[in-house]
Amino acid sequence: MLLRMNGKIYTRNLTPGKSVYGEKLVRFNDVEYREWDPYRSKLAGAIAKGLKTFEFNSESKVLYLGASTGTTVSHISDICVDGSIYAVEISKRMMIELLKLADVRDNIIPILEDANHPERYKEIGEVDIIYQDVAQPNQSEIFVKNIKQFRPKIAYLCLKTQSIDVSADPKEILDEELNRIGYKPLEIIDLNPYDKHHYFLVFRISLEH
Ligand SMILES: C[S@@+](CC[C@H](N)C(=O)[O-])C[C@H]1O[C@@H](n2cnc3c(N)ncnc32)[C@H](O)[C@@H]1O
Repeated sequence: MLLRMNGKIYTRNLTPGKSVYGEKLVRFNDVEYREWDPYRSKLAGAIAKGLKTFEFNSESKVLYLGASTGTTVSHISDICVDGSIYAVEISKRMMIELLKLADVRDNIIPILEDANHPERYKEIGEVDIIYQDVAQPNQSEIFVKNIKQFRPKIAYLCLKTQSIDVSADPKEILDEELNRIGYKPLEIIDLNPYDKHHYFLVFRISLEH
């Protein structure tokens, strides 16, 4: 469950008493919440900047690409309490922390894999949502491959323009990447000041894609 209060964002803590990355734990009406820091998580940054299409619910099946140690994954896990978050991460070092998180949160399924190869984790089947934050030069290609394999209804992409070209105009990179992706975005959010050089993109994926 997501809560907004006094300009801050919180999720209801699935594991009361436990903080994941040093975030504050607070109680409202006898329920414990974890503060969701927009400077630490791009999804929180997008919410703080007015994201309209927020489709995570208690039963969502989510494919998360670029899970790292699980900062954002942990908040999605708070929201999708009866759902599943398939968390793909390529780095063994990050995976060690992610495994610790999955140990205490049953709805997180860690997958040590390269998101360039969705066929290697295709057994998870179709998903409701894809969320991608991999910061790679070919991030758009990875995104499209995973959409085609897992046919989500909605897909979120954290587009890091500096991973593609540090010197080019970010708006030009955005246009080029949107052409490469081929789906029309529902929302385009510049994550500044929470994250520099990042756009947060939302796509509705229709059946004919
Ligand atoms: C910016 S961090 C993600 C932060 C995380 N999404 C969060 O909000 O907590 C990018 C992550 O993507 C991972 N990554 C990069 N390329 C990848 C690939 N091809 N497949 C899977 N993970 C990848 C990196 O190892 C890194 O942990």
